[in-house]
Amino acid sequence: TAGGTREAIDPVRFLSNHSSGKMGYAIAEAARDRGASVFLVSTANLPDPVGVDILRVSSTAEMQKVVVKQCETADVLLMAAAVSDWRPADVAEQKMKKKSGEDKWNLSLVRNSDIVGSIEGKKLIKVGFAAESQRLKQNARKKLKSKGLHLVVGNDITAEDSGFGSDNNRVVLIGIDGRAEDLGLLTKYQTAYRILDKVVSLLG
Ligand code: C5P
Repeated sequence: TAGGTREAIDPVRFLSNHSSGKMGYAIAEAARDRGASVFLVSTANLPDPVGVDILRVSSTAEMQKVVVKQCETADVLLMAAAVSDWRPADVAEQKMKKKSGEDKWNLSLVRNSDIVGSIEGKKLIKVGFAAESQRLKQNARKKLKSKGLHLVVGNDITAEDSGFGSDNNRVVLIGIDGRAEDLGLLTKYQTAYRILDKVVSLLG
């Protein structure tokens, strides 16, 4: 998966995040180059990678539907998408208008279900991402356990030379044994390649 999910507020507005989708696309391209058959579920507006099946979605619910279906036959799920934890409790059918005299608006949100955490398949290898602004390794290890992941890719979103929108990334890989491997500054394609090295070893 790639990109940030969009949660509609009304026909013209949505809640989302700064994910560009570049990391997910780099993984799709690197996996294709290594001979995998790739299905990319994307919210991003990037050019379609050649030789990859792609389906565009918008909300978390839409992404979940497609991912659940694909995982019936997939060997590996790589959840690079930045999935919104929350969505508006109600989606207005018409564009919401401001009322005169109003200087505050409370938007009520409800929890989205956790896509990667809810998918189970005996043989499915699950790779999750942890974008953190503090205590990166600690939070990434927590995510590995709570979401039942085989591998977590942690990145510090405060790093200035990598991350959102950049062609580079600086990640740490943490596997089930809890050991952290810092990959240092790499292009997103190189990062993807290294993630896939781990995935290949997990596939046995
Ligand atoms: O909990 P957090 O959003 O930080 O976890 C990040 C990882 O979990 C990412 O791999 C993301 O794609 C996945 N995720 C998900 N469903 C959600 C929220 C996050 O699959 N509702």
